[in-house]
Amino acid sequence: MLTYVVTGANRGLGFGLARQLAEEGNRVIGTARNIAAATELAALPGVTVVQLDTTDAGSCKKAAERVAELTGGAIDVLIANAGFNGTGAFYELDTFPSDDFLVAEIENTYRTNVLGNILTINAFLPLVQKGTKKTVVSLSSAMGEPKFQEDLGYSANAVYGASKAALNFVIGKYAIRHKSEGMIFFALCPGWVRTSGPEDEPYSKEALQPFIKMLQKVDPSCDGPKTLRDGAAACLNVIKGLTPEHNGQFLSYHGDKNWV
Ligand SMILES: NC(=O)c1ccc[n+]([C@@H]2O[C@H](COP(=O)([O-])OP(=O)(O)OC[C@H]3O[C@@H](n4cnc5c(N)ncnc54)[C@H](OP(=O)(O)O)[C@@H]3O)[C@@H](O)[C@H]2O)c1
Repeated sequence: MLTYVVTGANRGLGFGLARQLAEEGNRVIGTARNIAAATELAALPGVTVVQLDTTDAGSCKKAAERVAELTGGAIDVLIANAGFNGTGAFYELDTFPSDDFLVAEIENTYRTNVLGNILTINAFLPLVQKGTKKTVVSLSSAMGEPKFQEDLGYSANAVYGASKAALNFVIGKYAIRHKSEGMIFFALCPGWVRTSGPEDEPYSKEALQPFIKMLQKVDPSCDGPKTLRDGAAACLNVIKGLTPEHNGQFLSYHGDKNWV
């Protein structure tokens, strides 16, 4: 049994990761910025919910203190999953309808995806350092991988992609700083996972066809997003196999540089 902290665990991939880890018998602390609304997470056996807004340094510190009380001061793996997908994904950098929209998109996306990860990691670092796995995994995206974007010929979703590229750089810096301690800082792309809409209900892929077609340029077998269970399982398969050799790396849910 290991102790995991998963941020942004009230819905989406964070929820899927927390659920599987708890089902496997691990001790799981799932964080949510609005714990009153995290009822589904709180109902999972083996999961403790802690309040955490990743963009607020005070909230991160308070959450880490609460987790230290719960765990005796050590956690094995921090999964910094909380992220913001932006609201201007369809725009190129020079096609935003207004400067205000562009500026807000950059500020909000970087605040969550870059600053939020840094504040979370800094607050939980002393706990991870005392754990057995000494591992920090940040959920990144191949939208921030330049070669992959070039292969797709994709110029939209640029702000989100840039924030994830910055996150990968941040992970690299932590990796350099803490290498001598045998720590593992790792950026993981989960691939495309369906995290909106009721999990077990069938849905139409029609609206997703343009994106599916684009991904088929790189992998002709792509036929849409993975289910939440498949996405979480694939991510955890990679996370469980991490060794100090992976320190500073950015890989996909396949455990390599195949991004689709
Ligand atoms: N799904 C995919 O296909 C995909 C692909 C590549 C990468 N990713 C990455 O994987 C991660 C999870 O994706 P997802 O699809 O599950 O996202 P999601 O459904 O949008 O869920 C995002 C989670 O992050 C939380 N969050 C956002 N800002 C926060 C903050 N300031 N403080 C605390 N929690 C915050 C949200 O909480 P609230 O409920 O309070 O908003 C929510 O729990 C993200 O980092 C995303 O960029 C996802």
